[in-house]
Amino acid sequence: MKGMFFNNFDRYISETYGIEAWETILSESDLESGDVFIGPQVYPDSDFYILLDKAISYLKIEKNELLKDLGRKLFHYYAEYFPDIVDTSINPKQFLLSINDIHQYEVKKLLKVADPPIFTFEDPAPDKVLMTYYSKRKLCPLMEGILLGFSDVFKAPINFTKTACMLKGDEQCSYEITFNKRG
Ligand code: HEM
Repeated sequence: MKGMFFNNFDRYISETYGIEAWETILSESDLESGDVFIGPQVYPDSDFYILLDKAISYLKIEKNELLKDLGRKLFHYYAEYFPDIVDTSINPKQFLLSINDIHQYEVKKLLKVADPPIFTFEDPAPDKVLMTYYSKRKLCPLMEGILLGFSDVFKAPINFTKTACMLKGDEQCSYEITFNKRG
């Protein structure tokens, strides 16, 4: 995973639980990478899982809950760091339909990410999207949080139901997403 991902995790923990919380979690984690993360460099996924496990035991919070909340904030960070990519003048559904291209082309080009998640889409009705998510990291709670952050930033109320899950042995996670009318 990119250093940027670790930097965002640092930012999330520090802003939500305080800098001391992050410093304790970091100092008590035995990481392959040491304790400094440089945005464009790649660090082992296992270091993220070590930090995550330390964070959930230190903060006494359930893992999926932490991942979901982190994901929600992540999208707000992306909107801040990459305003050209997170262009809120685009129709929200069209933006969502483009996130595979964003990961496969834009993010790969910009950040040289080697291993981004893979999304597929079907567009069965004007207010619906069928989406699948695949990643060897199986971070679907994070993904679901990012969807909530997308909904916040684009001011596009959505709800989704999950019809398959990698954590339950399926090959990918599948979602039926409904775009609701704005306020
Ligand atoms: C609704 C929109 C999005 C969703 C659902 C989403 C989902 C995810 C997920 C779940 C991951 C974790 C890695 C994995 O699963 O293997 C991830 C990683 C990442 N995403 Fe997104 N993402 C979205 C939008 C964006 C945008 C707009 C950007 C950039 C502007 C972005 C940049 C990245 C980067 C840099 C990583 C780290 C990859 C790595 O370190 O290997 N994503 N994304």
